[in-house]
Amino acid sequence: MTTVKLDNPIFAISARADELRAEGRDIIVLAAGEPDAPTPSNIVDAARRAIDDPELHHYGEASGLTALRQVVARDVFAKTGTTWSASDVLVTLGTKHALHLALGSVAHDGGEVLIAHPGWPGHRGAAIAAGATPVDVGVDADHNFLVTVDSLERSWTPRSRAVILASPANPTGSVYSREALSAIATWALTRDVWLIVDDIYDAFVYEGTHASMLEAAPEARERTISVNGVSKAYAMTGWRVGWLLGPPDIVSTATRHVSRTITHVPLITQIAALEAISSDPSDLAQTARRYRARRDRTVEALRAIVGVDCPLPDGGMYVFPSVRELLAENRSGITTSAELASWLLEEVGVAVVPGEAFGAPGRLRMCFAVGDVALTAALGRLTTALTAV
Ligand SMILES: Cc1ncc(COP(=O)(O)O)c(C=O)c1O
Repeated sequence: MTTVKLDNPIFAISARADELRAEGRDIIVLAAGEPDAPTPSNIVDAARRAIDDPELHHYGEASGLTALRQVVARDVFAKTGTTWSASDVLVTLGTKHALHLALGSVAHDGGEVLIAHPGWPGHRGAAIAAGATPVDVGVDADHNFLVTVDSLERSWTPRSRAVILASPANPTGSVYSREALSAIATWALTRDVWLIVDDIYDAFVYEGTHASMLEAAPEARERTISVNGVSKAYAMTGWRVGWLLGPPDIVSTATRHVSRTITHVPLITQIAALEAISSDPSDLAQTARRYRARRDRTVEALRAIVGVDCPLPDGGMYVFPSVRELLAENRSGITTSAELASWLLEEVGVAVVPGEAFGAPGRLRMCFAVGDVALTAALGRLTTALTAV
């Protein structure tokens, strides 16, 4: 059997962790970009009922189930105070697909897309797959890893078509304030650049509340494409449901693309997403409180290790500590974060992602959206191993 080599180092680490587990090794995975909890049972039950409904065994609309698009439009209104209808929403195969469709609509002819660096490699991949040209916008720890008007202006060229902003961001956990979003929108309008806002982690903001571009810069509504999905908030990464919301031309272009390629997102998973978004919001708030406590525990444990510098992320599901000082000591011949991550996986039994995967050598990404027992064990192993390394 031939296996396709994917250019996603995060999946490669998870695959190696699976191999080691198959050999009987006890591996704790903090490398995945997903909650380790199962999808909530009300959502699974709704999908089970959908399987038994013959209405859902046939073709549906390319844009997605009207009921789901209505609920998404209502949810965006609840979060941003801006009014949308079902026709402004396209249901996609996850947020990554929505990103791909958005970029294909505005930059398919090699137009440049400005993307935070370090950042999530999926943004870059979605741009390349859409025929666009990814361009790095340097962000750094001193500025909380946030894209600013100055950094955008430095990366801008006459071929720039769009900027992608994720808030909270992966892997840095940075969260944009309303003022920062508004300033970026003003810049984008001046430079005639599309704003593609990726709010996939919006349920997980731990300091203050999530600011949305739609709310911060209503004047940029005609230049804003918002993407989101159920993957992270409802532990539904495998179900593949997301959406794109934006101006009519963009939604029409993207819907035509969906119709010509995948026809539409499977109806059973759309029903599951409908149930997810209609769930009691206090369930999601409780998940966010649990993650916040895990974030705090993780940061505290890592800060106690000499040579590890762990910023407190304002949101998201990851910590992104620097291990540069630890590596500089070169106590056991390990000199890069890639080597350190490999050693942690093979010898210590904890899978983490090296910063190299995000364009940030000298850092490690660890997901804290894992169960308390696993997190405690992982932090114990990391403390012992990194203190001795
Ligand atoms: C910033 C960001 N956007 C989008 C995604 C992908 O989301 P989905 O599973 O909905 O495609 C991820 C997954 O890691 C992410 O980190």
